Amino acid sequence: MGSQLKKAQFTFQGKVFELPVLSGTEGPDAVDISALYKETGLFTYDPGFMSTASCTSAITFIDGDEGRLLYRGYSIASLAENCDFLEVAYLLLYGDLPNVAQKQIFIKDINLHSLLHEQMSGFYQGFRRDAHPMAIMVGVVGALSAFYHDSLDIHDPKQRELASFRLIAKMPTMAAMAYKYSIGQPFLYPRNDLCYAGNFLRMMFGLPSEEYEINPVLVKAMDRILILHADHEQNASTSTVRLAGSSGANPFACIASGIAALWGPAHGGANEAVINMLQEIGDLKRIPEFINRAKDKNDSFRLMGFGHRVYKNYDPRATVLRESCHEVLSELRIKNDPLLDLALELERIALQDEYFIEKKLYPNVDFYSGIIFRAMGVPTSMFTVLFALARSVGWVAQWQEMIAEPTQKIGRPRQLYQGHPERAFVSVHNRTTASQ
Ligand code: ACO
Repeated sequence: MGSQLKKAQFTFQGKVFELPVLSGTEGPDAVDISALYKETGLFTYDPGFMSTASCTSAITFIDGDEGRLLYRGYSIASLAENCDFLEVAYLLLYGDLPNVAQKQIFIKDINLHSLLHEQMSGFYQGFRRDAHPMAIMVGVVGALSAFYHDSLDIHDPKQRELASFRLIAKMPTMAAMAYKYSIGQPFLYPRNDLCYAGNFLRMMFGLPSEEYEINPVLVKAMDRILILHADHEQNASTSTVRLAGSSGANPFACIASGIAALWGPAHGGANEAVINMLQEIGDLKRIPEFINRAKDKNDSFRLMGFGHRVYKNYDPRATVLRESCHEVLSELRIKNDPLLDLALELERIALQDEYFIEKKLYPNVDFYSGIIFRAMGVPTSMFTVLFALARSVGWVAQWQEMIAEPTQKIGRPRQLYQGHPERAFVSVHNRTTASQ
């Protein structure tokens, strides 16, 4: 945090108030309004947090206008090119990339926890076969708090670290089990001799009856997807994790709340929505019709995978994934994927359209991830689960950062009340209309 010498002034009812202006290492300054109510009796009003920094953080930085994304100061493109997912996880958690010895210890720490308590597989049997895997994930991740009592004390840094390792290690196992349950195949135990992404792919697509052949191109693509989704500063799900955590809730419950927030189609559910939309469009000829619908104020249809609250430029994650998308399709010898052709044409037309240019609506990360997942054989209902798997690392890092903050307070926004003013109680016999 930079110096606090800058001040903002505003006048209210003839009185001048001064508010400190805080500077970060990058990004816009922020007016510190924490004492505003005490000093002026005013609240601020900012639905959707359009102009509100809810915390300080040293983890991730986004410059939405320039399309830049940094984890702990490193550009997402350089990390996606040079690191594997667990290195990035270490970076997000501890602030620096690990050296060789640190990396080995970290991998060992994570692997130690990749198995799930055997009794937890019983939880899966309780769900309907056609349950959405995100519904299963919300349930089973929350249920971890019923099994791992020795990592629930949030005031003990060792227990916090243990909970973090457990969450990162068990997410692939739990996600793959959600999939296996839905198709009626046996669960596969994790294999700690494989890398994080390779182990996950084997648990998803392997069978106990035969050896699973690891495809390095698919492992690399999966690893990249995990890296690109690992954190994204104070988005809806991360803010949910922080808000839940601010009350002192245990880490497993907090991450379950993040998974619930991620599920919505305006957030992590968008990758699933992109494929559904492309399938609905179905034909290159119908693209203009859907572009027109997206522009029509009276139609609720939006181009899924387009637009972002923060990016008003090409999402840098989409740039990396566009490349991965072609690598995967060529490895799998998918010469003509009609959905990819549709996606590319849709992107081309939208990027030339005045409406999308004027509103700065560019493809976001979800636009390409769905096509890669689909080519790998991941069913659409699992797309958001994979997002949750990757984002768990960011959630855990952000939760850790918040709890370690000495001045941490419970998150408690206020409101602009627009309901009925105080009125006299009327007994049931004297009430004439419901709206009295
Ligand atoms: N298609 C058509 N029009 C759009 C789209 C879109 N995908 N996105 C935004 N707009 C328009 C809005 O209608 C609005 O127009 P107006 O100013 O004339 O009213 C304007 O652009 C601004 O949109 P808002 O909804 O106000 O922007 P906000 O920042 O609140 O929403 C969001 C961002 C939710 C991502 C939005 O762009 C959207 O719904 N996109 C589609 C869903 C999607 O891809 N979500 C994934 C987000 S990334 C992630 O979570 C990993």
